[in-house]
Amino acid sequence: MTPLPLLEDLGDVRGKRVLVRTDFNVPMSGADDARVIVDDFRILSALPTINYLTDRGATVVCASHLGRPKGAPSAKYSMAPVRARLAEIAPGVELLENLRFNPGEETNDPSFVAELIAGFDLYVDDAFGATHRAHASIVGPPKTLPSAAGRLLQREIEVLGALREKPNRPFVAVLGGAKVSDKIGVIEALQERVDAFIIGGGMCFTFLAAKGYPVGDSICQPELIDVCKKLLEGKVPIHLPEDIVGLDADGVYSTYGIRLPKGAKGLDIGPGSAAAFTDIIMDARAVFWNGPMGMFEDARFANGTRTVAQAMADTKAFTVVGGGDSAAALAQFKLDDEVDHVSTGGGASLEYLELGDLPGLEALRGAPRVK
Ligand code: 3PG
Repeated sequence: MTPLPLLEDLGDVRGKRVLVRTDFNVPMSGADDARVIVDDFRILSALPTINYLTDRGATVVCASHLGRPKGAPSAKYSMAPVRARLAEIAPGVELLENLRFNPGEETNDPSFVAELIAGFDLYVDDAFGATHRAHASIVGPPKTLPSAAGRLLQREIEVLGALREKPNRPFVAVLGGAKVSDKIGVIEALQERVDAFIIGGGMCFTFLAAKGYPVGDSICQPELIDVCKKLLEGKVPIHLPEDIVGLDADGVYSTYGIRLPKGAKGLDIGPGSAAAFTDIIMDARAVFWNGPMGMFEDARFANGTRTVAQAMADTKAFTVVGGGDSAAALAQFKLDDEVDHVSTGGGASLEYLELGDLPGLEALRGAPRVK
């Protein structure tokens, strides 16, 4: 595979106008017209690339999507709060309005690409979290402009590529989050690469149902039970929780074994499972974690995710955390500095591990080179 063009390949950038695609899709809270940034990790992560370019005399204009505004402007998804934060850490760097306010972004409309690149000499993709989207701002500019991967994108691919191609062993994938449908592809692909899976979060209930256990009113995708059965029969062990905490039919906090009674809703893995998962993570030599073990935003159901996060911090294994929710959980438990790599991408990190390439990377490799 042709190597990705990097910032150095852009040559002398002095006096050049550079369009930098960033992923500033940051978590926000507050009223629609007074949004507040909850976590600026993705904004801070773009600084090495921005600084590389501005230190060498380039003019940088950033562009990003925020949320899913469905092709029309709205106050809720305005870039204004992000622009204000960026101005504090990178004065003089412009930020365009939300790319997804234009329907041409998601449909990859060539006329939107033309509008976007007008007046620019160079393009840099540093939006790892969006590089799995074949959208206008990701795959369009490299068709015309000399282009490069920014520092963040470069590092993500180095780390995830190494995990995919030559992981230390045992290599364990810890997967959680609500929907098993989001993870089937990556589980199938990782079966060839990992030594064990640990599965918690809402997605574990479809697996438990596949093993014949009653899951009460817990989140479950019955149409995927057969797929889960097949995965459970595969050659790689899949460790599931053996105890669950949640709410009973009357909404009372309860602890259960592996069988949930009628009306009970499982919302976190139980303490026995958290301890068992910790042992596996401690014995591993590489761990990839994506997706919380339970509804950690509610303190009653944070124990499973906290325990896994602590194990990620304590293990000697090479640890990579991917996904907005798991990264937010690590930050909430103040453990984000204790793992080897926190990926800025959720879907993108899963898709890269699954496929080993992404539309945005392919576009960069095909871009014209600086003469
Ligand atoms: C993300 O948050 O994972 C990326 O910014 C991509 O967002 P999307 O799933 O709305 O395309």
